[in-house]
Amino acid sequence: MTGVLTPVLTAYWDEPDSFTLEGYRREGGYRALEKALRMPQGDIVGALKGSGLRGRGGAGFPTGVKWGFIPEGDGKPHYLVVNADESEPGTCKDIPLMMATPHMLVEGAIITSFAIKAAKAFIYVRGEVLQVVRRVQHAVAEAYEAGYLGRDILGSGYDLDIIVHSGAGAYICGEETALLDSLEGYRGQPRLKPPFPAVEGLYSCPTVINNVESIASVPSIITDGAAWFAGIGTEKSTGFGIFSLSGHVTVPGQYEAPLGITLRELLDLAGGVRAGHRLKFWTPGGSSTPILTDEHLDVPLDFESMAAAGSLLGTRALQIFDETTCVVRATLRWTEFYEHESCGKCTPCREGTFWMVRVLDRLEHGKGSEEDLEKLLDICDNILGRAFCALGDGAVSPVQSSIKYFRDEYLQHQKDGGCPFDPAAATLFGSSR
Ligand SMILES: Cc1cc2nc3c(=O)[nH]c(=O)nc-3n(C[C@H](O)[C@H](O)[C@H](O)COP(=O)(O)O)c2cc1C
Ligand code: SF4
Repeated sequence: MTGVLTPVLTAYWDEPDSFTLEGYRREGGYRALEKALRMPQGDIVGALKGSGLRGRGGAGFPTGVKWGFIPEGDGKPHYLVVNADESEPGTCKDIPLMMATPHMLVEGAIITSFAIKAAKAFIYVRGEVLQVVRRVQHAVAEAYEAGYLGRDILGSGYDLDIIVHSGAGAYICGEETALLDSLEGYRGQPRLKPPFPAVEGLYSCPTVINNVESIASVPSIITDGAAWFAGIGTEKSTGFGIFSLSGHVTVPGQYEAPLGITLRELLDLAGGVRAGHRLKFWTPGGSSTPILTDEHLDVPLDFESMAAAGSLLGTRALQIFDETTCVVRATLRWTEFYEHESCGKCTPCREGTFWMVRVLDRLEHGKGSEEDLEKLLDICDNILGRAFCALGDGAVSPVQSSIKYFRDEYLQHQKDGGCPFDPAAATLFGSSR
């Protein structure tokens, strides 16, 4: 598997001790920190801006620009919060990264904190993945012992503490402002923006919130330079990213490649759709991104091309579904997830996701009607752009896009008086894959 792959974040995942300080240092770990501590902080922010790195948590906001919003000389404490809550259906990159190379995240967090003049950083990890919490805690402890954290880091005069916080496990707590409320000890619900976290974030102080993969990309940008990073990928979607392939694919897993790679190329690397089957639909970036079909195999997986194709790059969680899958059933499952995870703060999402599940359930069991499709689209219209946070918008994506591409399949359920698919045929349990 060479050529299109660009392993940087994943380069040492196969090493048995990649997660230890010794293993990380053997591969050049913490040299970027030594370099960064000798740089003026403004130059670090400048390097991130020059690299073009866009947030890897889904929204794709330019990382250096976000850091640049932190006010200078405001006299308030500044904070870095790493969003390690990964829970978008299909998304599976931050957790393996933290398991395999937690020190890459810790090093990135120290450099970022230094750049934004923060003396405290938090890593908010999804508490259900206890092994990951422990692994990150262990890496932080090793970093303290080695003098990379604490007082006077590497003799630079810079002090930093990192706190690993374990979240209780709610999808909404991945939304950056809900995460802040949760970190402060409140029920995790989104805050009204503006003010944005860079102005009023954790404890009402300027705060940078970045995804794990964004922060883990920082050491390589410092070591190899902004131009190197900007030279990978496409003009506006620079660099590399982890693409997670799951579902009906021969070799599921994480594939690190330049942004702009296509699903066709990734499927070639992953052995194709499972043997004897063909691609029916897929998500480019988790269930919050509108589904695409085999028409889109050659659309570059970058922010601009995905938007032009009517979807979103999101978290590059490529869930692959072959022709054995009932799209109505898949959409119902996703919508049940959004109904369950809706925090209830705003009416369009709280009520809308509830009703979408009821209507979809009817349709899946052959008890729906054509008007139900219009009803679903009407509910979508009442959620999209009217919900308080992006969870509501995300909940609409699978519903709208599945009706767009598979309206006939919805209607077939009604004609057949039930689902025309055998659910067992779509499962992977017991299959040799
Ligand atoms: C419902 C919801 C869940 C989210 N979950 C995550 C998450 O688990 N991890 C993450 O990094 N970003 C998540 N985000 C996006 C964050 O709000 C935010 O954009 C991101 O952490 C910013 O970091 P980045 O600029 O490095 O991408 C979520 C957003 C929403 C609306
Ligand atoms: S959109 Fe949903 S998750 Fe977001 S605030 Fe409204 S109810 Fe809560």
